[in-house]
Amino acid sequence: MWEDRYAGAGEYLFGRAPAGVLTENPWVLDGARTALCVADGEGRNSVHLARQGLDVTAFDLSLTAVGRANALAAEAGVTLATHISTWEGWDWSRQFDLVAAIFVQFMTPDARPAQFATLRDAVRPGGRLLLHGYRPEQVDYGTGGPPSRAQMYTPDLLRDHFGDWHIDRLAAYDREVQEGRGHSGPSALIDLVARRPG
Ligand SMILES: C[S@@+](CC[C@H](N)C(=O)[O-])C[C@H]1O[C@@H](n2cnc3c(N)ncnc32)[C@H](O)[C@@H]1O
Repeated sequence: MWEDRYAGAGEYLFGRAPAGVLTENPWVLDGARTALCVADGEGRNSVHLARQGLDVTAFDLSLTAVGRANALAAEAGVTLATHISTWEGWDWSRQFDLVAAIFVQFMTPDARPAQFATLRDAVRPGGRLLLHGYRPEQVDYGTGGPPSRAQMYTPDLLRDHFGDWHIDRLAAYDREVQEGRGHSGPSALIDLVARRPG
């Protein structure tokens, strides 16, 4: 479904500029040398991190999206280690200073605990996870994301899963988002930045 969506779009579906959460919170990179961008799509976020000097690894299941990520990196004059991989196929034993999970709400609630567990595994002790997505109210806006309240995040849900880490930021807010055709219009957002103990 994702491959068809990207191939059919014929352009950068989520734009070429990074998600606002990265530009609005540059401090999340402090002290980081390596980053993993999970389900990174067309590379807008991984290229931004590489432009800030990080050594960036990224994966997505879509061949077309990863091709666009490589093209965006070449245009920007940066190098990315890109991989075509499913979430399930990724080697989660590799650890990074920063793990960026931006709009990865494609898993159903029953699969989400395992998805969050893999994200936790990929952060080195002392490193950070940045998780950015939509809240249930987003379904009423209908301006991006799956049409399923159950797949969205609430502050309580994120506290339940990451409350044992140091929470640098947990913010729920509404904002006009213009990130390609895929995310366009008023949006109900949520950010978590959490630091793994150790
Ligand atoms: C909403 S897009 C977000 C892309 C990117 N993170 C961004 O912010 O531009 C969700 C991405 O998840 C990828 N995806 C969906 N299911 C996946 C899976 N099981 N394994 C890996 N990637 C997946 C899709 O190909 C798509 O690129």
